[in-house]
Amino acid sequence: MSDSKRFKIGCIGAGNVGATAAQYCAEMDLGDVVLFDIVEGMPQGKALDLTQAGPIRNSGSLVKGTNNYADIDGSDIVIVTAGLPRKPGMSRLDLLEKNARIVSDVAENLRKYAPQSVVIVVTNPLDVMTYLMMKKTGFPPERVVGMAGILDSARLRAFVAMELGVSMKNVDTMVLGSHGDEMVPLPEYTNVSGIPISQLLSKERIAALVERTRKGGGEIVALLKTGSAYYAPAASAARMAEAVCKDEKQVLPCAAYLSGQYGLKDLYLGVPVALGRNGVERVVELKLTVEQSAALQKSAGEVRKGIEELKSMKVL
Ligand code: APR
Repeated sequence: MSDSKRFKIGCIGAGNVGATAAQYCAEMDLGDVVLFDIVEGMPQGKALDLTQAGPIRNSGSLVKGTNNYADIDGSDIVIVTAGLPRKPGMSRLDLLEKNARIVSDVAENLRKYAPQSVVIVVTNPLDVMTYLMMKKTGFPPERVVGMAGILDSARLRAFVAMELGVSMKNVDTMVLGSHGDEMVPLPEYTNVSGIPISQLLSKERIAALVERTRKGGGEIVALLKTGSAYYAPAASAARMAEAVCKDEKQVLPCAAYLSGQYGLKDLYLGVPVALGRNGVERVVELKLTVEQSAALQKSAGEVRKGIEELKSMKVL
């Protein structure tokens, strides 16, 4: 039997987030995975190791490691985690420029080898890198989407569940805006099996959990000391790949291209979207309060600043 109908998932960057995303995709048996990195031998070694875990984890996914872009040929989905982490002494602008150059290089290869793919961007600064990926691939905006909101909302869900001693599976929430300090968590859309958290927690406790969510990435960096979070970011990216593979159209918070929704145009920002086989199939517009709207505009302002910086660096 031909296996040509199996999904092909490319993971560009085989570091902490990329290799773990490959692991989750393989464990979910979403299809076969190609793990690409510029470091020789490393993606091949990790891929072989992951494939050998398959029979034990009851997965049929083959994972192939490579340094050759031609191997991602015809991928249905590509998860992009290639990039540098911020190193001591490196300015924010320096990081922006370095990662922009990496993402531009990846985009060129996706144009060539995976022109029909849905691209899930993870590289930071997320909203700006997702915009750059869309521009450099020339793909329709709905086929380029950024991973942030699922991670940020998962953090808030976990904190609420830990606080209340209930299952994380019962907690639902929504986080809008850019991935970073200017994210816009929405306690009004947070509930435990339909019960609004305002009935379960005091205003002060909710505010504290929201603040911890905002600083969720930094809390982990401070503990790890030598790197940043990767299990939950990878799980979030794999969750998006799953929604695309299974054509779920499930509403999830993702960085999506806005063309007038929420009064915003020509940028990527975290909003609820229906994610399916074609990528972002719908942007859901929530009714926001004046404060929430102002916070979203502020968030958008930060992303615009990043886009302008790319333009002044002549990357865009
Ligand atoms: N093409 C492909 N891969 C590249 C390139 C490139 N031009 N440049 C660097 N890489 C690879 C590195 O070799 C490394 O294996 O990207 C990988 C990044 O992995 P890590 O350094 O482990 O970083 P990780 O923790 O996975 O984070 C990756 O995701 O969450 C974001 O902020 C994070 O931007 C960062 C990205």
